[in-house]
Amino acid sequence: MSTSTTVETQGLPDTQPSDPNWWRQAAVYQIYPRSFSDADGNGVGDLRGIISRVPYLQDLGIDAVWISPFYPSALADGGYDVDDYRDIDPRIGTLADFDQLVETLHAAGIRLIVDIVPNHTSDRHEWFREALRSPRGSAARDRYIFRDGGGENGEQPPSDWVSIFGGGAWSRITEPDGSPGQWYLHHFAPEQPDLNWDNREVREDFLYTLRFWSDRGVDGFRVDVAHGLAKDLPEDLHSQAELDALPKDGSHPTWDRDDVHEIYREWRQVFDEYDPPRIAVAEAWVESDRRPLYASAEGLGQAFNFDLLEADFDASQFREIVSFNLDLAKTSGSSTTWVLSNHDVVRHATRYGLTESDPEEEKAGTNWLLAGGPQAQLDAEGGLRRARAATLFELALPGSAYLYQGEELGLHEVAEIPEDQRQDPTFFRNPGVSVGRDGCRVPLPWSAQGPSFGFGDGAAHLPQPEWFRDFSVETEQTDPESTLNLYREALRLRAQLHSGESLTWLETGDPDVLAFTRPNGWTCVTTFGTGSFDLATLGAAGSVLLSSRPVEQNVLPGESTAWIR
Ligand code: NOJ
Repeated sequence: MSTSTTVETQGLPDTQPSDPNWWRQAAVYQIYPRSFSDADGNGVGDLRGIISRVPYLQDLGIDAVWISPFYPSALADGGYDVDDYRDIDPRIGTLADFDQLVETLHAAGIRLIVDIVPNHTSDRHEWFREALRSPRGSAARDRYIFRDGGGENGEQPPSDWVSIFGGGAWSRITEPDGSPGQWYLHHFAPEQPDLNWDNREVREDFLYTLRFWSDRGVDGFRVDVAHGLAKDLPEDLHSQAELDALPKDGSHPTWDRDDVHEIYREWRQVFDEYDPPRIAVAEAWVESDRRPLYASAEGLGQAFNFDLLEADFDASQFREIVSFNLDLAKTSGSSTTWVLSNHDVVRHATRYGLTESDPEEEKAGTNWLLAGGPQAQLDAEGGLRRARAATLFELALPGSAYLYQGEELGLHEVAEIPEDQRQDPTFFRNPGVSVGRDGCRVPLPWSAQGPSFGFGDGAAHLPQPEWFRDFSVETEQTDPESTLNLYREALRLRAQLHSGESLTWLETGDPDVLAFTRPNGWTCVTTFGTGSFDLATLGAAGSVLLSSRPVEQNVLPGESTAWIR
């Protein structure tokens, strides 16, 4: 494996000015901006920090970055509580910085996707403040979902609905005259009131926002909670138990309603005003057979597929998921997406290193951290070994791959965050049940030294553990066997080798070994068990281009992936 060198700057404008399909096979790198790189030393990552790391992103070989919310926010939910959709949080930068970021990324040949959060605003958004100042039944309240409470004096919430982050889904306001008032719906934290998408002004305002960022040069949007916007709430609300029992077939009162796609058809018209059309990818946690509705060309065009992220490192699960999703993508004409890690789940190196002591425990969740910390349960080396194999498997698949910052360093989840430094609302709203998502959001280690391992000049906003030193970019850069260099080489080869959008499974004769080949002969072999596999078994195998563990005399060791051609 060789260490890659800096790629020549090609830039977008001359090379692919209007390739409408750039996203179909793209490798997209997710940046959680507060935790990526801090240029001004205030402990919070910023846009100038990202600009300074564009050469790193270019060396990595990704096609696009998706930046999680950078809007003004009180950070009740890490920025997914947006105060103003058309501005930048002053701790993160300015609109001028943003323009420079677009220019710098494009000059480096990297596209930019921004996060749009349409299901809810923050409670500091000017619309919500106006709703609080305005009377019952006013136009200002109609932008949200307000209801009178039950009980003698309206002191009971309108229903017993539970929010996704825990606790009730309704919060009571104080009316302008100081009396206890109506209740508003929030599917997430109380600081995130749900918008009323039946309100025309809400719809128009988001169309305006899509144009605002598209005009500034963004290439696409990641749509938060895309399946939540449309709601049909009768006068008499269902109970939570009734809601849970209703089919999720497009007619559910709150989730994945068929009429949500009317909204996205309007968005599509905006996307298509641009050349190339702006793209969108839906974050929609829906039944898999309903995913194509979000991915259709008349709608958002692409949808996240979280199936691999939810699977064990297991050959039969992986094979079934891949075949199913490639077929599914054909029904919408979109390409499928692959995700192993993001800012909401335990990093995949850690997930694959957890012991199976409690099979009932949800691995993508964070409950494992409560039972004695990672040392008690984590096989860190094994987890990383399997993660490297899974990543090479993922990057050889047809479709686009969404990578999460830090996975290229092989980072593990950070378990050792003191309670008083945790930030995630899912920790505060579920005492003793969940430690939340901060462990995958700890600022990146760029160097082996310095107050925050090169993240910035001062302490980082979430504490970094000492072991981050061993995973820093500086440390890994010079090690040809590092995970960073594995990702660089994989992405470089992938860009050259991608062809077509199909694969053919090869029979390996071993239920723990998967092999598939792409139309141009690029073959990927993964051993999911601990046993090794003789690559000669595959007959047509050519030379090994890359592997997650060393291949000697054509023998692929256990828990590893090789690319052959
Ligand atoms: C999904 C985002 O990925 C998550 O981080 C956020 O908390 C919820 N949507 C609510 O916006």
